[in-house]
Amino acid sequence: MSKSITGFSKLSKSKKIDWIVETYFSNTEEAKRVLKQYWSTDEKLQQLHDEFIENTITNYYLPLGVAPNFLINDTLYTIPMAIEESSVVAAASKAAKFWLERGGFKTRVISTTKIGQVHFIYKGDFNKLKQFFNKTKSKLIQDSKAITANMEKRGGGIIDIELRDKTDDINDYYQLHASFETLDAMGANFINSCLEQFAKTLKNEALLFDGFYAEEKQIDIVMSILSNYVPDCLVRAEVSCKVEDLSDNDTVSGEVFANKFIQAVNIAEVEPYRAVTHNKGIMNGIDAVVLATGNDFRAVEAGVHAYASRHGKYSSLTHAKIENGLFTFWMEIPLALGTVGGLTSLHPLVKLALELLHKPSAKELMQIVAVAGLAQNFAALRSLTTTGIQQGHMKMHLMNILNQFEANDEEKETITEHFKTNTVTHSAVVEAINKLRVKK
Ligand code: MEV
Repeated sequence: MSKSITGFSKLSKSKKIDWIVETYFSNTEEAKRVLKQYWSTDEKLQQLHDEFIENTITNYYLPLGVAPNFLINDTLYTIPMAIEESSVVAAASKAAKFWLERGGFKTRVISTTKIGQVHFIYKGDFNKLKQFFNKTKSKLIQDSKAITANMEKRGGGIIDIELRDKTDDINDYYQLHASFETLDAMGANFINSCLEQFAKTLKNEALLFDGFYAEEKQIDIVMSILSNYVPDCLVRAEVSCKVEDLSDNDTVSGEVFANKFIQAVNIAEVEPYRAVTHNKGIMNGIDAVVLATGNDFRAVEAGVHAYASRHGKYSSLTHAKIENGLFTFWMEIPLALGTVGGLTSLHPLVKLALELLHKPSAKELMQIVAVAGLAQNFAALRSLTTTGIQQGHMKMHLMNILNQFEANDEEKETITEHFKTNTVTHSAVVEAINKLRVKK
């Protein structure tokens, strides 16, 4: 029977586990065993993980895989990917190899501006608010100097602050809409600290502004927060080759393949039901690298999907064309990433992943992540428009089914060999396991 509890966060880890297993589990010892088997034997490492969040009871493992052979702007990368979906790393590796033989990926950072807003209510004359803002803008920046000094030394900081009239949407609603350059930091803490300082200054200075009537002086701050919509923190990734070079077997010509591939992209451009799945495949690659490098995949997801709807209809993030016999496949995508601060200097596996990527700057990481997304989409569309997706998916899923049946190494080897030439379905695998076990 569920029950509520007060002061849970103050309990020790073992008391938290006691309460959970006694409240929710019939086999308390088994539940404890499952939780504890994921604890690290290295106490310091476990403590580090315990302290990332509140109420940690164990660790949740995801596989960390690598996809080698990514040639990006003539540099070779092996890309780390943290993901549970069986076919993603295999698909990335396959796409990397395909494009390695055709000149690799070309990327470029288009812009790196991030946004934050102070949302406030002002009851009065907009012209007076404008006058007040123009007079106070330099003080907003000046009062934030303690926060911005280090970032400015490195070449970043506040780019601009605008006053925005939002009263067409909500009565008396205005914004300070600020733009920032946060260099190698994702910048969430930096931006939020600046915004909260802007809000304080705005409120205090309004009380002192002679041009306002008494009611106009009372600016009401609703909230101050960065935006995860970053359409001006944009990166482009692209592959291209001669149409005839696209074929890597004798069955489908480069031209047939290219045309079918472009049709598939066109469908995702116009049909939202398809676009969501198409973009989900892109996010398979993006999230896996974002997670492996200790970045905030929820922020990236939110920003990317908003960008995919920027013209008022959800659409494909990738595009493809043939021009003068050249096939080009590309994507522009907003990515606010960091390679300093946050988990990047705390989580040992994140540090390792970044070292594997030649310790990239945030700009370099944007390009690597975009490539992982483009490669993933290429691999998915290539399968979808040729063999169908299930062939590759089920091949990778085979091991999951074998593990469900607790197959031993010998059984795994025999059955994997059998399915090299047979179609993998759940029932066919079960049948093969049963046959093998009866034989023994
Ligand atoms: C599965 O995780 C991703 C795909 O559905 C993407 C796509 O359909 O393009 C294969």
